[in-house]
Amino acid sequence: MSTPTMDDAAKVFTDPTAYADDARLHAALTHLRANTPVAWVDNPPYRPFWAITKHADIMAIERDNNLWLSEPRPLLVTAEADDFGKQQLEAGMGLRTLIHMDDPHHRKVRAIGADWFRPKAMRDLKVNVDALAKRYVDKMRDIGPECDFVTDIAVNFPLYVIMSLLGLPEEDFPRMHQLTQEMFGGDDEEYNKRGQSPEEQLTILLDFFNYFAQLTASRRENPTDDLASAIANGRIDGEPLSEVDTASYYVIVASAGHDTTKDAISGGLLALIENPGELERLRKDPALMGTAVEEMIRWTTPVKEFMRTAAEDTEVRGVPIAEGESVYLAYVSGNRDEEVFDEPFRFDVSRDPNKHVAFGYGVHFCLGAALARMEMNSLFSELIPRLESIELAGEPELAATTFVGGLKHLPIRYSLR
Ligand code: HEM
Repeated sequence: MSTPTMDDAAKVFTDPTAYADDARLHAALTHLRANTPVAWVDNPPYRPFWAITKHADIMAIERDNNLWLSEPRPLLVTAEADDFGKQQLEAGMGLRTLIHMDDPHHRKVRAIGADWFRPKAMRDLKVNVDALAKRYVDKMRDIGPECDFVTDIAVNFPLYVIMSLLGLPEEDFPRMHQLTQEMFGGDDEEYNKRGQSPEEQLTILLDFFNYFAQLTASRRENPTDDLASAIANGRIDGEPLSEVDTASYYVIVASAGHDTTKDAISGGLLALIENPGELERLRKDPALMGTAVEEMIRWTTPVKEFMRTAAEDTEVRGVPIAEGESVYLAYVSGNRDEEVFDEPFRFDVSRDPNKHVAFGYGVHFCLGAALARMEMNSLFSELIPRLESIELAGEPELAATTFVGGLKHLPIRYSLR
């Protein structure tokens, strides 16, 4: 087969700075959806892949999890980091989370934590999350009339929720937060304090593993009523989870559970500030909160991508894809697909239907989606009725990342009851 030509616009996927520049990013994605919806990307130091930018194609690929596997390339990393990660796994020290796994193992591992995220668990948790939302909005009032909404509020609220669900002691929350930022924000200078090489990145993983090894030991000895105990004592076919699977479970929950939600909360507030008419509609009609939260999640799309690899020769939109080749699911693009969303670049708190792919789709559909929705619902239901005025007090700043990201800073001036 001859090598496909590369559409230059597809270079955005391997360029973290593109994600810190909404206009540039969306110009490229809009062009790709219209002209090269299955785009070949060959841009070292990454191995080549096909970028999928249409909503329908992303859904179809995620739906067919026998043809499209998460192994061996679940997300975009450089070839060097990829090889290093695999060596580490072979040595028993790598990361193999739910997003790395395929069925049947994936289904069994997912089931271990799943009860903690079901509607009943969410209902039990709601009182505490509402109380916490009030605590953070009170804090916002107390530190007013200005704050950095990201670092003062949006980071800490979901961090607190997920760490409490896991059952970790409050004094460890800042450490977990730092580790998560280092792991997910590696492309951004502000977050990446340890360096970019695979060896330097491994030190972050080792810190996570050491912390969680102690936690596993203590929960096996003294089980408590929390998610950490469920993971530590989880069994598959009668056997305890392997050390790698146990530690990886904590890592995915601890990390996926808060930076994502922080990005949706802070980007959601910015969208309301930039669209005062929508803020007013929501203030007047709190029944719109459910659709408003969904729109904030579509609008911000905190998780930029996951990948799948073809188990056999196939095609997408008529483009042949060979067994072993990988596809990049461009969620940010799918969520602005003009064939699915009316006026996709309009922020509309009453958008319905809103079949966004920000939580993915199919067997890997975000385990924490109901939790993220509830947290956002609680926070904005507390904040909006108390908000007398709000405006920007400086430039909002987006993180440079190719994976999970959103606002790093959102300086605001406000008055709160
Ligand atoms: C707005 C916030 C969030 C967004 C946008 C988000 C997005 C995503 C996406 C796109 C996936 C991959 C889905 C796929 O491959 O089809 C995912 C998976 C996952 N998310 Fe979330 N997430 C959010 C919040 C959370 C929270 C609060 C948790 C809590 C623990 C969480 C835990 C997970 C886990 C464990 C997986 C792996 C599921 C699997 O592979 O079976 N996420 N999330």
